[in-house]
Amino acid sequence: MNHDSFIAEQTVALRQAVGTGTALNALSGGVDSAVVTALAHKALGQQLKTVFVDNALMRAGEPERIVRIFADLGIPVERVDARREFLDALKGVTDPEAKRQAITQTFYKTVFGRIVRESGASCLLHGTILTDIEETVAGIKRQHNILSQLGIDPKEAYGYQVIEPLKTLRKDGVRAVAKRLGLPDEIAYRIPFPGPALAARIVGEVTEERLATVRAATAVVEEELAGCGAFQYLAVLLQDRATGIRDGRREFGQIVVVRCIQSVDAREATATRLPWETLERICARITAIPGVNRCLYDLTPKPPATVEYI
Ligand code: XMP
Repeated sequence: MNHDSFIAEQTVALRQAVGTGTALNALSGGVDSAVVTALAHKALGQQLKTVFVDNALMRAGEPERIVRIFADLGIPVERVDARREFLDALKGVTDPEAKRQAITQTFYKTVFGRIVRESGASCLLHGTILTDIEETVAGIKRQHNILSQLGIDPKEAYGYQVIEPLKTLRKDGVRAVAKRLGLPDEIAYRIPFPGPALAARIVGEVTEERLATVRAATAVVEEELAGCGAFQYLAVLLQDRATGIRDGRREFGQIVVVRCIQSVDAREATATRLPWETLERICARITAIPGVNRCLYDLTPKPPATVEYI
């Protein structure tokens, strides 16, 4: 379908569904929720309330950057500071699945659940795309039923309506619609970033200090590899330590892994053959981060590895 007619049809459908009520959506900064926000703002104006939940797990400057991009487009986004709640929920949690579960529960049940109830909105907008539905059906992804994730019994959910305006599109369609809606390239062509954010890149406990380390390493990798054409690139903080020497003294320091992959849809991936000079520059900058004295490049394809480390 032509993207202009997609936008026109969804605008009509959103207006019909919301009527005189209000709709609510959570913007993550990814292209899907960004397109839902821009599309719904075009259709609903002030009847739309968009929140950006700061979960303490974001990349450097991310909350400010996202709110500013939308402010520049005339779309108000309310930043909700939930950093303490997420950090508290992650305290002492080291098992990867338990960590993901803590983040999902804190987002849906605690934070977004509260925002939904307080907002009085009857319509929830969600950026589900066709691939999400296919992967849920195939058992690759977890259920995308937002109401049950919110702890709202679908039988009692009378009054809540979930609208998924992008459910007929794949990623390339979403990116094209993003461009038509005037979203900047930094949003339309963003590299993938996982829902659990930097917590997916910390092996072991997620603490403020460990987040600061992986955040600094992520900034280096994203800066050095921007425009390299890879599908995705990231930095991971391991739990192990290694002996090193800094300023003439032995140091039992932290280890950061750099990953950069070629892929079509993240189901399979291979390591990018980066120039040695690029790797050396990244290594020098990452080992300048306080406490980090080793930087490794991950050559493992998917499978057997996954892209993220948890
Ligand atoms: P894995 O690690 O499973 O990642 O090989 C495949 C792709 O999915 C991204 N990813 C996620 N995206 N929520 C997301 O929206 C998640 O929980 C999640 N976990 C992984 C990952 O970055 C890669 O592009």
